[in-house]
Amino acid sequence: MRVGFFDSGLGGLSVLNHALKVLPKENFLYYADVKNVPYGNKSREDILKYSEEAIDFLVGQGSKAVVIACNTATSAGAEVIRRKYPDIPIIGIEPAVKPAILKYKTDKRILLLATNATIEGEKLETLINKYDTEHRIDKKGLKNLAQYAEDGIFDKKIILPYLKDELKGYTLDKYGILILGCTHYIFFKDSFRELIDGVQIIDGGRGTAMQLKRRLEQNGLLATDADKTDGEPRVIYFESGVRVTDRKKLETIEMLNDRFMNMEML
Ligand code: DGL
Repeated sequence: MRVGFFDSGLGGLSVLNHALKVLPKENFLYYADVKNVPYGNKSREDILKYSEEAIDFLVGQGSKAVVIACNTATSAGAEVIRRKYPDIPIIGIEPAVKPAILKYKTDKRILLLATNATIEGEKLETLINKYDTEHRIDKKGLKNLAQYAEDGIFDKKIILPYLKDELKGYTLDKYGILILGCTHYIFFKDSFRELIDGVQIIDGGRGTAMQLKRRLEQNGLLATDADKTDGEPRVIYFESGVRVTDRKKLETIEMLNDRFMNMEML
């Protein structure tokens, strides 16, 4: 059986890449809801409806666990989805507030960037209230950045002016830590590095992959050598429920996987 991954689009590939490394024997399904991306400016009700459709599909395909590789979808309804599937481990990525406060050292402030839906959601407020007792975090929703990634636009000449405009009211050099609270944003680390000199950039990708590993272990669901892919690829990709076989689209996914590896090295 495979592990299902879901994101509004291609951002979740950044989380999947961690899981491919942390769980070398597992095979995966990846669902990108390209019909409805971006989620970040939609209502909670709509985001939850689309997320349920995606997860119903992944469960229908026999997923033994599901990773919501989308901060926005986790924020809108991970609890609802867990109640719907009490017997399937459902792991949802969240902005890395806890490690930013507890693990990383800086005398400076912390900036959290995510989609508007995540920034305005109750879940993030609860998370920040729990860990940010000294009120060191400032948060800001970015309206268009996820769509830039979907459109394959990564050029710093376009992205940096966009970010500068979104953050024009902010004194950027007072930030020592940047939390990327949207899985699409990982692909823009080069621009963020240039935007805020010396900033430490963190996200919940690896933590989510480690949590998946723990949940599979606890539930006796870890793949063994006996789990074969029967000639199928290690990851099977779907776009809003339709299997991706088009060579061009698969090449785009490969390009993003390569970009992820390069961004990780920054
Ligand atoms: N990748 C998603 C996240 O982590 C959301 C992007 C979008 O669809 O707006 O929040």
